[in-house]
Amino acid sequence: MTADDRLIVALDVPNVIVGEQVVDQLGDAVSFYKIGLGMLTGGGLALANELKARGKRVFLDMKFFDIGATVEKAVAGIAQFDLDFLTVHGDPHVVRAAVAGRGDSDLKILAVTILTSLDRSDLDDCLIRSGEIQDLVIERARRAFLAGADGVIASPQEAALIRELPEARGRLIVTPGVRPAGAALGDQKRVATPASAIRDGADHIVVGRPVWAAENPRQAALDILAELGTV
Ligand code: C5P
Repeated sequence: MTADDRLIVALDVPNVIVGEQVVDQLGDAVSFYKIGLGMLTGGGLALANELKARGKRVFLDMKFFDIGATVEKAVAGIAQFDLDFLTVHGDPHVVRAAVAGRGDSDLKILAVTILTSLDRSDLDDCLIRSGEIQDLVIERARRAFLAGADGVIASPQEAALIRELPEARGRLIVTPGVRPAGAALGDQKRVATPASAIRDGADHIVVGRPVWAAENPRQAALDILAELGTV
């Protein structure tokens, strides 16, 4: 089968050994994987390179945030590897530094707008200015695009509004917080189903626990692809 790279499976497992097991179980059903901070000390970068050698696409979810000079160096380091997507926080100075660090490599810089696990009371706790979360996400997306981001990470509930931004033309929208109907929400608060996220303008959906924690991960992935009309 030809896998549909609109589905990105988040490999939020502790280490390379478990990660390889999940990738083997999913086989040709999944072609795009996200490796995040949880696996950094468990060999995440080695697994990223191994997946590329196996012909998969890789999204490194590092969510960098620091002074510009440090972000630029960190991204230049990552850009030496042949990976596909890298996340940084969507603050304009961070995005500009990441774009400079990526240089002429093919690495796409994706900006995090507001984590999909946060709601308004969480933002209040962080002293983030008042206003509807949706409006803040859209304005952060717009500013990230203006700073040069190749795409943004946003909740599926905001994808349609971001897609309407003139600044979003030709840019990527990647949505975590995706749950097939009936799946456990975990800590995600602003969720939608795979099909509705794509319908609302997402180019890729990121799904973690509903796939890797399923009794049969391959079947869980195939069910999502069926919902997207791929299989
Ligand atoms: O298991 P689940 O499907 O909730 O995993 C979602 C993945 O997307 C996690 O790896 C999480 O870190 C990531 N993510 C997110 N919200 C963002 C950015 C990334 O949930 N805004």
